[in-house]
Amino acid sequence: MNSILEARHLGKFFGKGSNKVQVLKDINLTMSEGSLTVLRGRSGSGKTTLLNLFCALDKPSEGDIFFQNKQISQYTEKQSSELRRMYIGIIFQSYGLVPLLTVEENIEFGLRITDVPRKEWKKRVDQSIDLVGLNKRSKHRPSELSGGEQQRVAIARAIAPKPPLILADEPTAELDSNMALRIINVFQELTQNDKMSILMTTHDPAILEIIDNVYALEDGQLADDKKEKHT
Ligand SMILES: Nc1ncnc2c1ncn2[C@@H]1O[C@H](COP(=O)(O)OP(=O)(O)O)[C@@H](O)[C@H]1O
Ligand SMILES: [Mg+2]
Repeated sequence: MNSILEARHLGKFFGKGSNKVQVLKDINLTMSEGSLTVLRGRSGSGKTTLLNLFCALDKPSEGDIFFQNKQISQYTEKQSSELRRMYIGIIFQSYGLVPLLTVEENIEFGLRITDVPRKEWKKRVDQSIDLVGLNKRSKHRPSELSGGEQQRVAIARAIAPKPPLILADEPTAELDSNMALRIINVFQELTQNDKMSILMTTHDPAILEIIDNVYALEDGQLADDKKEKHT
């Protein structure tokens, strides 16, 4: 299996001197192409910080990150934004929807900045709206939607371009359990049928139960969760 994302001896701290806070310590992880991987950890354990490093929104203090075997940890601003635009779909905890645009326009907006040809846009928009079950809300603006519906728009926008990697920060936090499982099913299908790789954070026990690749972040360090889960 090819690796899509790899972290080697990754560390991150904020501040200096006596204010220094080490958030991530010696993180090592290899995510294979086409996998659905979950990162769990309590609030404040560093999940969002790690995802920010993986999409090059922030730079590591120590160690290296490889995306498709290319080292991205030293990328310039320009290279980093190109990486996110073309290769990584991001679902942030704050959804980042454009308030004046409808659901379909928000998703199309996400497609415009990729290399997906214009003639494909409508199909991609419709497909992704369908996948997250928002057909009846496609003409609505974010302010007219519930938190969970907005979260599903953010998911649809990230998956519409079918990027090789999706980073999803607690993407089911606002969803009821049926909808959360539906989204996990969608993620599983995207990894199996479209060769996409998805790394998501969650602490939902129902989701942790059905995913094979679970890593736990504790005190800034990563532990493979598999054995623990089945005992
Ligand atoms: N820019 C920052 N400056 C200082 N501390 C930060 C910064 N970003 C995050 N932290 C700290 O890092 C820790 C991990 O935060 P975060 O990655 O958001 O955790 P999680 O997403 O698991 O809840 C927290 O203690 C937080 O206060
Ligand atoms: Mg977080």
